[in-house]
Amino acid sequence: MYIKELELDNFRNYEHLEVSFSKDVNIFLGENAQGKTNLLEGIYLHAMARSFKTIRDRELIRFGEEYCKNRAVAFYEDEEHTSEIIISQAGAKAVKVDGARISRTSELLERLHIIIFSPEDLKIVKEEPGKRRGFINREICQIRPGYVSDLNEYRRILRQRNAFLKEDRIDETVLDIWDDSLVRAGARIVRDRRRFIEKIDMISRDIHSRISGGRENLLLEYETDIQPEEGESEEAVFDRILKEDRQKDRFHGVTRHGPHRDDIRISLGGIDLRRFGSQGQQRTAALSLKLSEIRLIEEETGESPILLLDDVLSELDNERQKYLLNSLGDHQMFITTTDLIGSVARSLPEGKVFKIRSGEIDIEI
Ligand SMILES: Nc1ncnc2c1ncn2[C@@H]1O[C@H](COP(=O)(O)OP(=O)(O)OP(=O)(O)O)[C@@H](O)[C@H]1O
Ligand SMILES: [Mg+2]
Repeated sequence: MYIKELELDNFRNYEHLEVSFSKDVNIFLGENAQGKTNLLEGIYLHAMARSFKTIRDRELIRFGEEYCKNRAVAFYEDEEHTSEIIISQAGAKAVKVDGARISRTSELLERLHIIIFSPEDLKIVKEEPGKRRGFINREICQIRPGYVSDLNEYRRILRQRNAFLKEDRIDETVLDIWDDSLVRAGARIVRDRRRFIEKIDMISRDIHSRISGGRENLLLEYETDIQPEEGESEEAVFDRILKEDRQKDRFHGVTRHGPHRDDIRISLGGIDLRRFGSQGQQRTAALSLKLSEIRLIEEETGESPILLLDDVLSELDNERQKYLLNSLGDHQMFITTTDLIGSVARSLPEGKVFKIRSGEIDIEI
């Protein structure tokens, strides 16, 4: 799959832009604050109907304007498809695919698959658990669109349950009802996450072994409160935990166990990388994870996802830059960079270079 054309109106610092891309590599070259990341954001919107930078859609509208319009022509499933997203200051968002309005974001998720890789991702190993949960959530959304509704449902109930726990006097039967719904959504999330982590563990072990020249053994393990024994269901375990902890939860005014506390343990030869890994080891493991995600999406969807690399190259040493670019040769890529380093330019496959200046494409090199 690839994006052929993009047209932006009043999107971020772009007043109007029309551009056709290469189906191989596209480089956005330019100084700081010219609009390189904004352009990636504009592309990303067509896969997820939301930004990777903000949850407030209005921020995407060019300062002082009423609305923004973002249109793309993409090729997938053997055909060209047009998608259009219009966001207004009033807070309305309209998403159309091939001219027809779609009401659920999940419909969009099943179409284009775009993976963004930013320097933040290189920190995923050392950051707090929330970042790793974010990573798992985004990936599973792309593979199983129904996951988004489970996640939203879970968050909604969790918020209500937590608010309820803070009240002085509560009706236990009402709490029972909250718990039932929380257990159902939570158990589905845990099953999806377990399946995902098992798969990504297998793939990343292989990739990491290649990057490290066979020297290092990467292992990913799902850390969750909900660990069913043989023959037990996730529902039963989660329900038991909630019941056992109810009084403590009331005391703290918060739900202390459940998938909202999940994590992935990432280790190298038995050593916990988050706590004991060197920076280089943490980055390489993060790179392996990211590359695994690409391969997994490919295996699950049968399509090769589009990759956005935002400022990543300069964060990697020569060896890893080359590995990255060579192993991703058959995907459409969008790469932002402030300077085109010689060795990178040489290892690039076919493509186009766009020089970006103040929200315009200055020249196409
Ligand atoms: N809604 C908006 N309307 C107008 N301009 C905006 C809007 N949002 C962001 N900008 C401006 O867009 C500019 C470019 O942002 P962008 O993040 O794309 O830069 P960049 O080229 O990726 O720079 P860097 O190399 O520093 O990452 C910023 O100066 C910012 O002020
Ligand atoms: Mg940027």
